[in-house]
Amino acid sequence: MALVRMRNAKGGNSTEIEKKIKRGHALRQGSVWRGYRGLVALLLVAVCVCRTWWYMSSVDSDITATLVSQGELVSPLPRVYTVPCSEDYENYKRYPGCTPHRCGRAVTDSVVSREEAQVLRRLAERGLALAGSEGGASILDLHSGALSMGKQFVNIYRYFGDQIRDVITPEDFQLYRDVRERIQTVIAETFDLDQTLMYLTKPTFFSRINSTAAKTQHDEYWHPHIDKVTYGSFDYTCLLYLSDYGSDFTGGRFVFMDQNGNQTVEPRAGRVSFFSSGSENLHRVEKVTWGTRYAITVSFTCDPAHGISDPALP
Ligand SMILES: *[C@@H]1O[C@H](CO)[C@@H](O)[C@H](O)[C@H]1NC(C)=O
Ligand SMILES: *[C@@H]1O[C@H](CO)[C@@H](O)[C@H](O)[C@H]1NC(C)=O
Repeated sequence: MALVRMRNAKGGNSTEIEKKIKRGHALRQGSVWRGYRGLVALLLVAVCVCRTWWYMSSVDSDITATLVSQGELVSPLPRVYTVPCSEDYENYKRYPGCTPHRCGRAVTDSVVSREEAQVLRRLAERGLALAGSEGGASILDLHSGALSMGKQFVNIYRYFGDQIRDVITPEDFQLYRDVRERIQTVIAETFDLDQTLMYLTKPTFFSRINSTAAKTQHDEYWHPHIDKVTYGSFDYTCLLYLSDYGSDFTGGRFVFMDQNGNQTVEPRAGRVSFFSSGSENLHRVEKVTWGTRYAITVSFTCDPAHGISDPALP
């Protein structure tokens, strides 16, 4: 599904651009036969180059819109962009009050403060400093205990035993729980759901990404994907950003990929971005080109059998 959509979008694009380039060539060739040779030819080449550039850049800006930039503050209400729900949900049992009946994407900067984001980022820094992937992308999952280490993962609760209590405090777990609850509330309000019928689901993890090249598939975070296809239990996906696009890192924007254009969300510390998890929200993350990007993924399911409890020390 994802691949077909992408190929269509790409095909449409390149033929448009090809047509425009051909038109440019025709213009240029027609002119060479006329009088004034040198100067006119030169001018026309300049015009052609400019036109091609203008077409390309206008095509670009037509198809990539910024849903929310880093510098904006979206408060008090979330910015919501509605999209029709895909049929993905029909392959699963319906849970009235939770299964998406409205779909879309939303961003809010008023659910988690920048101070809270900083506390969570320090927690991510401490936890991920214990190990980390050899490639540029590492995760720490406080629920399962999974932490990237080299080309694999270890379980921090087993590997570090009681020493993990020096790194992750009960206050950290409490903050995670508070933030998770507030996110659940804003998702329920935005998509008109009963929040008591939504359950945290796995995986839920901190991510740290920098520009080091990938060493294994686990490091390849940039591929377009659909969360409901990747993780069948997901109904609502949420990302909480812990660092700022532009000053903490470059690249690394979140991109919703639609047939007729893309829409980006620029990370900002404390920013919460959430969306229905079906193929109406095919997305990818751009490669990080400089600096380090921290975020937390918190996702919800409507199926109580796939619900998990908040992370806690074992
Ligand atoms: C990315 O992070 C890892 C782990 O901290 C570090 O070893 C590596 O040098 C970093 N890469 C860049 C390009 O900063
Ligand atoms: C959306 O972005 C992808 C890369 O992220 C690009 O390949 C594709 O052409 C873009 N689609 C449109 C319609 O602009």
